Parts: sequence; C-alpha cells; structure tokens
Amino acid sequence: MIRKVELADKKQIELLGQELNADYAKLFDLTELLKYQYTRFYVWEESKQIVGFIHANVFFEDGDIINIVVAKNYRRKKIGTQLFNYLLANNPIKNLTLEVNINNQKAITFYQKQGLEVLTIRKNYYPDGDGYLMGRKYEK
Ligand SMILES: CC(C)(COP(=O)(O)OP(=O)(O)OC[C@H]1O[C@@H](n2cnc3c(N)ncnc32)[C@H](O)[C@@H]1OP(=O)(O)O)[C@@H](O)C(=O)NCCC(=O)NCCS
Repeated sequence: MIRKVELADKKQIELLGQELNADYAKLFDLTELLKYQYTRFYVWEESKQIVGFIHANVFFEDGDIINIVVAKNYRRKKIGTQLFNYLLANNPIKNLTLEVNINNQKAITFYQKQGLEVLTIRKNYYPDGDGYLMGRKYEK
C-alpha cells in the first residue's frame, strides 16, 4: 500500500535511507522536510513495515526526485515503479528531473525504464564523483 509519509515513520525512513547513503539521517531530517509545501514523500508499507519510499520536490509543473529507495529484499518487484507512478499520478508534473551518481548503474537503468534520458553530466555533483541530470517531459 502506498501512502503519504508521517512523522511517526521517521525512524523507519532513516533506517531505510541508510541503504542509499550511510549519512542519510544527517542529510535528510523528515521533521524539517515536512515543513515545506513543495515536499512530496510517499511510502510503500507492507504489514506495518515501510519497505520503500520516494521523496521529491514539486513546484507547480516542475518535479525533482530527491531519493527513491526500496529495501534490498523487496527489489525487482516493481515497488519502485509503483512509487514513481504514484508521484506522477498525484502531482501535475510536466517536467521531471533528477540527479543520479554516474556509477549507480542500477538506478540509471531503473530511471531509463521509466522513460527518463540523460540530459547532461554534472561534474563533482556528489562527494565521490559526477552525477547525471536525467529528465523527461509529460503531457498533462
Ligand atoms: C533503484 C531502485 C529504487 C529500484 O527499485 P525496484 O523496486 O527494485 O525497481 P522495479 O522493480 O520497479 O524495477 C523496474 C525496472 O527497472 C530496472 N531495474 C531495477 N533494478 C535494476 C537492477 N538492479 N539492475 C538492472 N535493472 C534494474 C529493470 O528494467 C526493472 O524491470 P524488470 O525487473 O522487469 O527488469 C532500487 O534498486 C533501490 O532502492 N536502489 C538503491 C537506492 C538507489 O540507488 N536509489 C536511486 C538513487 S536516489
């Protein structure tokens, strides 16, 4: 089941976020994020356990995916795809963008599967290297 994140999910989100980045909890404070009107944060819950989430910023028709994570044991079951589609179905996004580490081939393939293309390279975007800016336009 997909639903909006709640403050009570903070601990579970921080644990899951560590599968993406060891510093996740330092970099992303859910209490702070939920103060901003542009924050979109949806979770995939199974038996009261959060096994995936997507976090994006949405300003009118512009959407930027900040993070998407699915727990290791739940990957390749289309949970990521459904979180991605839910973001698009519930927001008026026409221009979607995101940055991804050029070494994160799994994520690049996932985003390409969702129809996004590499638009440009962002040198030193990450502490450990370059990022791709990927994007896709939607008619709505
Ligand atoms: C990227 C991620 C969110 C994908 O979630 P997921 O639920 O496993 O993805 P889906 O099952 O919806 O995959 C859809 C398609 O994407 C592609 N894909 C997904 N994971 C892939 C992988 N490990 N290798 C190659 N292709 C992959 C495939 O084409 C897949 O379709 P298929 O399984 O029918 O071949 C997940 O791998 C993850 O959490 N990774 C770690 C965090 C991360 O790097 N996030 C992105 C940067 S913020």
